[in-house]
Amino acid sequence: MNPLPKLVCVVGARPNFMKIAPIYAALKSSRTVDPFLVHTGQHYDEAMKDLFFRQLGIPEPDIDLGVGSGSHAFQTAQIMQRFEPILDDVAPFAVLVVGDVNSTIACGLVAVKKQLPLIHVEAGLRSFDRTMPEEINRVLTDQISELLFTTERSAKENLLREGIAEDKIHFVGNVMIDALFTHLGRSVPAEETLARYGWNLGAQFGVLTLHRPSNVDDARTLERLLRTLVMVSRKLPLVFPCHPRTLKMIERYGLKGLLAEAEILVTPPLGYLEMLGLVRASQLVLTDSGGLQEETTALGVPCLTLRENTERPVTVSEGTNTVVGTDPDRIWAAVEDTLMTGGKRGRIPPLWDGRAAERIVRVVEERFL
Ligand code: UD1
Repeated sequence: MNPLPKLVCVVGARPNFMKIAPIYAALKSSRTVDPFLVHTGQHYDEAMKDLFFRQLGIPEPDIDLGVGSGSHAFQTAQIMQRFEPILDDVAPFAVLVVGDVNSTIACGLVAVKKQLPLIHVEAGLRSFDRTMPEEINRVLTDQISELLFTTERSAKENLLREGIAEDKIHFVGNVMIDALFTHLGRSVPAEETLARYGWNLGAQFGVLTLHRPSNVDDARTLERLLRTLVMVSRKLPLVFPCHPRTLKMIERYGLKGLLAEAEILVTPPLGYLEMLGLVRASQLVLTDSGGLQEETTALGVPCLTLRENTERPVTVSEGTNTVVGTDPDRIWAAVEDTLMTGGKRGRIPPLWDGRAAERIVRVVEERFL
């Protein structure tokens, strides 16, 4: 029997893992394509990588490029250099990338320069804010992709406006929500996670995450945000799983004391199943993450996005998300409103039904096999 044609699938950073898990599983069960998993090593900590691989049932990557952290140029260049020879060895029929992290654009560029078709999952999302590193990664990856899979209708309009041919674009739904529906039943109860950190918060708490450079890299911005969140925590205790970059900045700017006075439980980054359990049991999520805006919408939990824009507008128009920015008064007003009214109710957006990965595999088969 001839070996199956190989599709190189790339992961690099934490939000990639829940996107690749359902795609990898669907490719495996198709028995038409052999997925070859490359981890760039952009995220490498146990809590940022291995725990997710285990909980999501992703096998050990076929190759780990071990790139690690660095400036954008350094990280992107290292990934490109180390990824190129893999494509020579593996000889795939295409390369599949997900999301908008540096690993996405770096591997995408290598693939197209080697005349290999690029497949982009989660294409067409736009914040229209080019100071955001991810926005550059999104626009450029979409320009060089041969197949573009979208999660919401607005994405197609963005792509058409940027001159992408319509027949390359496929609205398939959201693979991150495939992962959520697959694993929700196994989520770790919130009480269990909180007890592990010696907290007994009672039934009412919020979840906080922060890691965007625009929020955490500048001392004054970070301090102003944290002061507001300390105030919020006196009304609604907060659980704050802290990204390594954020923790580093809190320490560098001497802001640890501020948190110590608050009703804020700071934990290391949590696993996927712990996070799902916390979010589904929470009154409210405050975040600058992209993925959490979507997960809260799928779970029906109100989300206040601590950014001035979102590249995921369907979470606002149909879901539970409100973009509140970083102004203390606006955050405070939105929290009060949410606690008083129970927060924004929404519905699950079209095709966020747990079957996006299956649709992706079908289109890949039709296009390439
Ligand atoms: C990256 C993505 C961002 C995504 C986020 C999710 C880019 C440009 N950004 O941001 O879109 O939302 O991942 O987490 O690709 N670090 C560790 N251990 C790790 C990984 C990182 O300590 O396993 C620390 C290092 O100090 C590193 C810093 O975090 O310098 C930033 O890591 P990096 O991969 O550059 O970007 P993120 O902020 O994680």
